[in-house]
Amino acid sequence: MSKIILTGDRPTGRLHLGHYVGSLKRRVELQNSGEYERTMIMIADAQALTDNIENPEKVRQNIIEVALDYLSCGLDPKKSILFIQSQISELCELTFYYMDLVTVARLQRNPTVKSEIKMRNFEASIPVGFFTYPISQAADITAFKATTVPVGDDQLPMIEQTREIVRKFNSVYDEVLVEPEALLPESEACMRLPGTDGKAKMSKSLGNCIYLADSADDVRKKVMSMYTDPTHLQVSDPGHLEGNTVFTYLDAFCKDEHFERYLPDYANLDELKGHYQRGGLGDVKVKKFLNNILQEELEPIRNRRKEFEKDIPEIYRILKEGSDAARQIAAQTLSEVKTAMKINYFEDADLIMEQVKKYN
Ligand code: TRP
Repeated sequence: MSKIILTGDRPTGRLHLGHYVGSLKRRVELQNSGEYERTMIMIADAQALTDNIENPEKVRQNIIEVALDYLSCGLDPKKSILFIQSQISELCELTFYYMDLVTVARLQRNPTVKSEIKMRNFEASIPVGFFTYPISQAADITAFKATTVPVGDDQLPMIEQTREIVRKFNSVYDEVLVEPEALLPESEACMRLPGTDGKAKMSKSLGNCIYLADSADDVRKKVMSMYTDPTHLQVSDPGHLEGNTVFTYLDAFCKDEHFERYLPDYANLDELKGHYQRGGLGDVKVKKFLNNILQEELEPIRNRRKEFEKDIPEIYRILKEGSDAARQIAAQTLSEVKTAMKINYFEDADLIMEQVKKYN
């Protein structure tokens, strides 16, 4: 069976380093690996609207930001289909039919939705659209018969929900849908890159993000003010690695070759960590090292972004072309779904004959 990738992001802000190590970087590698018949990357604006109903302008503005971030990271419209969720009306139809296959109790058990409801203080005023977004996400994935969904672990419940819907659909109706698998980031640090303040995750509202589009100067300032070990007051003090944001970032980004280039006194990250723990290694030195690594990674992205920013109409053209292509694929799946569900009345000559016989 051919392997197909589908993944996406809600356009509620620019993309940051958490997105980058958690998924974006991997997507580009997968896109270029030649192992996949198709790579589909979706800007999930309809899903973003499920909890931004008062902010349509925010979602609208961020479509282009996310698209620019995608392109500057190396997602290539010649190799991947980049598209906008709301433009594929077939996804709504699929969602509506899948709703019959899921119980309210099952949705209520979804841990990601549960914690998001808490975080947003929805309590008794949960929008139905928000509550049911796991079903719409199942439509996103199955419409393109995706086999592989690169995501963070917070999305595992969505993939599990999708797999259940697929199994139910295929057993009740016909073997039409494909059961997808999640593809998680390679390491713990990549999965859960904390904000620069050491808080759980990067989030726009906490103001602890390093954005892909940040200037070199902003990145440097953010790195130099990062949360480290509050007990490491003097250079000579022994330092701790647990919860030390700078070292978590190094776990996510640092390779041995970086030492040759920027810190030749050490051979690898283990040596640097050892010295830090023994005492005698100052935070500033480690932060400068991290800054060098991040600048090296981000500079080409930033430069490509500047190029893409020069021709904004072209970005919309790419998204339109991608959306048209995505729509054709989704339409094919929807047609198979409707056939399996026996709601293809006008394409079914046998049905008409059957009724003719019944009445003659
Ligand atoms: N829920 C995902 C997020 O918040 C975005 C998303 C929507 C998605 N549809 C998807 C991810 C389908 C993977 C597959 O990041």
